[in-house]
Formats: sequence, C-alpha cells, structure tokens
Amino acid sequence: MPVDVLIGLQWGDEGKGKIVDVLAPTYDVVARFQGGPNAGHTLTFDGIKHVLHQVPSGIFHPHILNVVGNGVVLDPVVFRQELQKLTDRGVDWAQNLYISKKAQLILPSHRALDRLHEEARGSTKIGSTLKGIGPTYQDKIGRTGLRVGHVLLPDFEERYREAVAQHAATAGHYHRTLDIAAEEAEFFVAVGFLRTLQLTDTEFLLNDLLRQGKRILAEGAQGSLLDIDFGTYPYVTSSSTIAAGACTGLGIAPRHIDKVYGITKAYCTRVGSGPFPTELTDAVGEQIRQAGREFGSTTGRPRRTGWIDLPALRYAIMLNGVTELHLMKADVLDGFAEIKACTHYRLPTGATTPHLPDPGQLQDVVPEYVTLPGWHSDLTQLSAAADFPAPLQAYLAFLETELQVPVRIVSVGPDRVSTILR
Ligand code: IMP
Repeated sequence: MPVDVLIGLQWGDEGKGKIVDVLAPTYDVVARFQGGPNAGHTLTFDGIKHVLHQVPSGIFHPHILNVVGNGVVLDPVVFRQELQKLTDRGVDWAQNLYISKKAQLILPSHRALDRLHEEARGSTKIGSTLKGIGPTYQDKIGRTGLRVGHVLLPDFEERYREAVAQHAATAGHYHRTLDIAAEEAEFFVAVGFLRTLQLTDTEFLLNDLLRQGKRILAEGAQGSLLDIDFGTYPYVTSSSTIAAGACTGLGIAPRHIDKVYGITKAYCTRVGSGPFPTELTDAVGEQIRQAGREFGSTTGRPRRTGWIDLPALRYAIMLNGVTELHLMKADVLDGFAEIKACTHYRLPTGATTPHLPDPGQLQDVVPEYVTLPGWHSDLTQLSAAADFPAPLQAYLAFLETELQVPVRIVSVGPDRVSTILR
C-alpha cells in the first residue's frame, strides 16, 4: 500500500512542509490534494527559508514528481510567482511538476468576492486568508467553476467572461461592483504561463505510478479542525483537510493508503476567527507567540496561541486514523518551567469529557489541565532522542498514553537537520 498521507491535526501551521521535506527522499511522488494559496508550507535547509503555497513540498528533490491534484484550487498568478522564485533560486522544477486538469481555477473575481463576503459578515467574519478559496470551492460544488484544463480550450476567455458576469451579479447583491481590471491583465499572463506546464489527468498518472510500485506521499494543507465537515464550522476552510480528502483530491482508492502521519505542535495555534478552548490571551500566550515566531506565513497575521488540546487531538486522530504522531516545535517550550496540557473539557452541563463535543459548540467548553514539569534546557542543540532531557521524555510518554499513538518524530528547530526520529 504505497500511499502515505500527512495531515495537520490542529488548525493548520503545524509544520507539515518541514516534515514533507524530511520524509520526501523516501518517496517517488509528493502530491497536494486540497486547499490552495491559503497554505504556507515553510521549509528551511542550507540556511535558506522557502515558503510554498501551492507547489508540493517535494519540489527541491530532483528525483521526486510533484503533483497538484484535482482537489486543489489553483491561483495561476500566485503559482507563476512561486515558480519564478524557485527558478531564481536555481530549482529545476519543469520536468517534475504535473497539474491536474481537474483542479479548479481561482479567478481575480473569486478573490474580490472573498473580500465582499467577509466584509458582509461583519463581526462573524471567518478570518479568511482572502485568497479566493471559499468562492472557488463554492463554484466547484455549484458546478459553475473553471478548471485548469479549461485554459486549453479555444473558448476559455468566453467561459471566463461568463463566470465573471455571475460574480459581478453576486457583488451586485452587496451593492458593489467588481474592481478587477488591473488583476485581470496579470491573470491572463499567468494563464498563458499555465498553458506551458504539464497539465494532465493526474489520477491516471498517479495510478500508473502505483501499479509500478512507486511510493506516494499525499501532502495535506491546513488542519483537521479546519475541515469543511468536521472542523469548527463555520470557522473552517472550504475543503476536506482530513486524510480521506487524499482519495477524492487525487483519485486514489482508499485501499492504497497505508500510514497516516499526524502533525501537531507541542502547543496550539489558530489564525482567524472561531473557538479555541485553550487559547492564552495573557503573557504566557505572548511568550509562545514570540518564541515560536507565530505569525502567518501567508498573511503575516499574529497567530492566536494556547496550550496543547488533547480532546481536540483525540478527535483529529480518530477522523484521520493516524498511525504516528510528529511533534513539532518542542523547542519553543524550552523556556517554560511548567507546561500545561488540556486533557478534558468541562461542558455547560457541568460534566467533564475527554472527547470533543460537536466542534460547532467548542466555544462553550472550559478546558481542564494537567501541569507537567518543563525541561528548561536548549533542545535545539540535540540530535538524538537518547539525549532528550527526562521531563521531555516524560511529556512524550504522557502524550502517547493520552493519545494512544506513538510519537515518532520530534522537531526541535526550523531546519531540516533539527528533526529527531524516535
Ligand atoms: P480560507 O481558507 O482562506 O477561506 O480561510 C478560512 C479559515 O482557515 C481562516 O480562519 C484562515 O485563517 C484559516 N486557514 C486557511 N488556510 C490556513 C493555513 O494554511 N494555515 C492556518 N490557517 C489557515
């Protein structure tokens, strides 16, 4: 079963890009299956930091094929910029990158509608990245979207105009006009560029590779608590961020899936609106934000921070069938004398539960914590699990008991080399 899936277990920004980069050498293919330019996957090696939004994180390895699957929403303008940056840095991606003709296109008018929808929501705004994700998936499900493959058709521009006319009508409901003239010019340049890339029916490519015994790593984006079905709805993104999304987002049958890598930080963050039971709005939260450099890699927004949330993790582990955990940013907690972990929620009824209730009602729960001793030492200098300080070993054992899944990787710094296998 040569497909493994890597997903975030929290609200995104868990460090998935780094782990894909570390694991990639043992795979033949890295494939993105959902999301789009709302993602920001950070990879650091050889002293250089790279942030990828839509390009799969295997792109730096010349032997790996990188696939943008049908479940993705692709902004050609952002994609062109990203690929230009890679070219400038000497990355030879042209032969190794395939894009599904069935992926949906983000149009400038989708971005404009994203802004209008958010403005109209006022105090209940989602906190979207404003990259056009929601409106593009809306058109996909509404069966009016434009697909990447459409750029190859002679009537593409006509189809584009029809879509924009519909979007203009929607903007009219808000008594607004679409102001996208400037963005349209660069969109068409980017579409011309897209036509020069390897656009194909990637489900055939991937299944052919599977028949040849090749190994595929499906790279998730965002996190399980932002999933359109199981996340903290409506404060979610518009795609299936859980492992099952890899099947529909790539055209791979469930029987091919083997390992599911669940990525979590040693604490918790969230960007945008929505419930966050363990959120810390005090000096401790600020200390985590500064130590963890918790500012959005796509939008630069300060991230909300808090202690690790085990009921939420248990839920995400269940949904994804996680086979191993990867604990990220353990070093961010180096300076803490004590570390807290939420093990239970107290419900409005007064009862406590180790499980997450309806994620839509998370705002009504009160977290109950256990306090563990901090390790109070510099993890960034470590290179082997045998050298972990005793309090860290105890913290890992505690997580494994609580979550019933082994912690196989502990990350102790942003660089590729700061990744410790257990
Ligand atoms: P959208 O996906 O841009 O519509 O944003 C919906 C929600 O998901 C907002 O709260 C965003 O902050 C959040 N979100 C979207 N993508 C990411 C991500 O890659 N990391 C973290 N949060 C994200």
